[in-house]
Amino acid sequence: MIIQFNIVVVLACISFVENSHFRGGTITWRPFNSTPSGSTVDIQIRQRYSWNRLAYFCDDAYIASLGVIGDFSSVFCVSGTCSNWNSNPIYTQTYCTDYSVGGVVSSGEIYYTRTVPLNAAFSIAFNSGNWFVNLVVGSGGLWSLVCLIDTTVRADGIINSSPIATTLPVIYKPINVQHVHVVQMSDFDSSDTVRCRWSIGSTSNINGYDECADVCSGVPGAVLYSDNCTLVFTLTQDSMYVAVALQIEDFYTTTSPTPMSSVPIQFLFYGYTASSGCSTPPAIIGIRPNRGKKTEHNTACIGTPIGSTVNELVIVQVYCSDTSIVDFITSSPVGLTKSSIQQIGNNLYQIVLSWIPTADQVGPQSFCAGAIDNTTVQSNQWCITFLVGYNSPDLIRATSIQGTASPIGTIFSNHTTFSIQATNTVNRPSRNSTNVYFNDAATNTSVYTIDCGYDSHVIYTGNTIVFYIPSPPWIPGHSYYVTFDSGVASGTVFCKPESSPITDPTFWTFDIWDPAVSSTTTTTTTPPTTGTITTRPLSTTTVNTLSTTTGIAVSTTTTLTTTSTATNNLTTTTSATSSTGNEFDFPPLYSNI
Ligand SMILES: *[C@@H]1O[C@H](CO)[C@@H](O)[C@H](O)[C@H]1NC(C)=O
Ligand SMILES: *[C@@H]1O[C@H](CO)[C@@H](O)[C@H](O)[C@H]1NC(C)=O
Ligand SMILES: *[C@@H]1O[C@H](CO)[C@@H](O)[C@H](O)[C@H]1NC(C)=O
Ligand SMILES: *[C@@H]1O[C@H](CO)[C@@H](O)[C@H](O)[C@H]1NC(C)=O
Ligand SMILES: *[C@@H]1O[C@H](CO)[C@@H](O)[C@H](O)[C@H]1NC(C)=O
Ligand SMILES: *[C@@H]1O[C@H](CO)[C@@H](O)[C@H](O)[C@H]1NC(C)=O
Repeated sequence: MIIQFNIVVVLACISFVENSHFRGGTITWRPFNSTPSGSTVDIQIRQRYSWNRLAYFCDDAYIASLGVIGDFSSVFCVSGTCSNWNSNPIYTQTYCTDYSVGGVVSSGEIYYTRTVPLNAAFSIAFNSGNWFVNLVVGSGGLWSLVCLIDTTVRADGIINSSPIATTLPVIYKPINVQHVHVVQMSDFDSSDTVRCRWSIGSTSNINGYDECADVCSGVPGAVLYSDNCTLVFTLTQDSMYVAVALQIEDFYTTTSPTPMSSVPIQFLFYGYTASSGCSTPPAIIGIRPNRGKKTEHNTACIGTPIGSTVNELVIVQVYCSDTSIVDFITSSPVGLTKSSIQQIGNNLYQIVLSWIPTADQVGPQSFCAGAIDNTTVQSNQWCITFLVGYNSPDLIRATSIQGTASPIGTIFSNHTTFSIQATNTVNRPSRNSTNVYFNDAATNTSVYTIDCGYDSHVIYTGNTIVFYIPSPPWIPGHSYYVTFDSGVASGTVFCKPESSPITDPTFWTFDIWDPAVSSTTTTTTTPPTTGTITTRPLSTTTVNTLSTTTGIAVSTTTTLTTTSTATNNLTTTTSATSSTGNEFDFPPLYSNI
C-alpha cells in the first residue's frame, strides 16, 4: 500500500512538473572583449527563465542564498558552425532572482562563459516541454528558445554584442480592451539598428531552427511594430494567458539585410475582467523617472560601479479606495534583493532594492517591476537599467563663490544665465521631461522649469551645464533654490548613465537683490571692483554644436561698478574671455556668504 502510494505521488509530481512548468525566458550574449585577437573569442551567455513557482519554489531567503531553480537541461548548438559546443554546452538551471506568490512564478538568471571560434555563426536552443495549460495558444505544449551567436568581426572592426530585451514574466491586462505594449530593447553597440519580429515555427529563419514550438503566433490578432517592438492586441479570454514569442535582432545599418544576432524573448500576458467599480491600475512613481504611463517605455539608466552598493526605491501609488498593494512581479539582476512591501502613506507603498553588482555583471542590467493590488490589477511595467562598471555624472553641490554652481549668493533680478558642474563629462538626456526647477523658497513651487530633453536654452559643454532664462521671473528680495530630475546630466556611454535627482532645497540657492532694502545696508559693504570679476573658470572646450542654436550671446565679461550687498571679497579668477573659440562667460556674480 505504502509503496504504491509513493509511486502515485512521484508520478503525480513528475507529470505536474512536466506538464505545466515553463513560463518563458530569454538568451543573450556578448564578447568579453569586443576587440578581436587570435582565432577564438570568449563570450558570456546570459540565460533568464521563468517557471511555475509550485514546481520551483523561491522566496527572499532562497534568492539571498543564491538558490537555483529550473530544469537541468543542456542548451545545444542546433545549426551553423557548432564546432565543439555540444561537448561542452551550457545548462539551464539558474539562480533564483524573483518570485511572485500571486503570479505563481519564480524567475532566475545565470551567465556562462565559453570560448568559441572567431568569425563563426551558430544557433543554440533550449527546447523541451511543457508550457502550462492555461494558454490560449499552445496549452501544455512544447517550448523552444533559439539564439543566434555570430562572432564575425564587424565592418567597424569589433565583435558584436547581442541586443537585450527586458520584460516582466507575466503582465496582467483587462480583457476586451485594446492594449499597446512596448518591449524595451537595448543594444550595447549603440550604433546598431535593433528590431523585433515574431519568432518563426519552422526552420526557414536565420536560426535554421523552430524558434517557438507550440506558442508561435501565441497572441491571436496581435499586431507587432518591428522598429519599436510595440505590440497592439486585445485579450478576449478571462483568467487565461497568452504567450508572446519574439526574436530581437540587431543590424549593422538600417538597410542591412541580415541581422548580426537574433535573441529570443518569451513572456506572458494574463487576461482578467476589470471590476465594474474603480479599476484604475496602481502606478509606480518616485524619484527615478517613470516615463511608462502611456507607452510602458522607460529608459532610466544609472551608472553603477562594480562593488558599489545600490539602493533604489520603488514607490507605488494606488488610485482606487479600498485597494492595497499585495504583490510585485519583478525581473532583477542576480544578487538584487527586495524588501517586503511597506506602506509609507495614505495610498503609497514601497519596496527597497539593494544590490552590490559583481564583475561578471559588467554592462547593462535591468530591473523591471509591476505592482499588483488586492483586486489583481497590475501597474504598468516600470524598468530601470543599471549600467554596471560605469559612473553616472553627478551634479556638484554649490558651496562657495569659487564652487561649481554659479551664481550663488545675491544676484540681480535680471540675471539670466546659470551653470553647474558635474563630476564627469555631461550630455543632454535622451528623454524629454527631464527637468530643472527654479523654486521660490517662499512658496516651494517652481517659478521656472526647463526641460533638458530638448530645450535649446540648456547647453552641455565639458563637465558643465548652462541654463539660459530669457525672461527671468525673479522677484527682488526672494530666495530661490534649484532642484533637478534624475538624468539632467547624462554620461556618454551606451544608455547614458544619468545623474541622481536632487530634491534638497539647500543644494543650490541664490537670493535676488532688493534695491529698496539694500540701499540702507550697502554703506557697510565694499563694492566689488571692476573688470575681472567672473565666475569660476570655465572649460575651454569648444561648445558642442547645440550651442549654435541656443541664441545665447557669447558675451565678454561685463564690468561691474554697481553697489551690492556683497560682504566678502570677490576673488578674481581666470577670465574665460582670453581664449579663442566659442566659450561662455557669465555675468558677474555677487556673494553675500
Ligand atoms: C511604433 O511604431 C509605429 C509604426 O511606426 C507607430 O505607429 C507607433 O506610434 C510607435 N509606437 C510607439 C509607442 O512609439
Ligand atoms: C484590499 O485592501 C484594502 C486595504 O487594506 C481593504 O480595505 C480591502 O477590503 C481589500 N480588498 C480586497 C478585495 O481584499
Ligand atoms: C541688470 O540690472 C542691473 C541693475 O539694475 C543693471 O545695472 C544691469 O545693466 C542689468 N543687466 C542687464 C543685462 O540688463
Ligand atoms: C521632445 O519635445 C520636443 C518639443 O515638444 C519635441 O520636438 C521632440 O520631438 C520631443 N522629443 C522626444 C524624444 O520625444
Ligand atoms: C518649504 O520647504 C522647506 C523645507 O522642506 C520648509 O522648511 C518650509 O517651511 C517650506 N515653506 C513653505 C512656504 O511651505
Ligand atoms: C578674502 O578671501 C581670502 C581667500 O579666500 C580669505 O582668506 C580672506 O579671509 C577673505 N577676506 C575677507 C575680508 O573676506
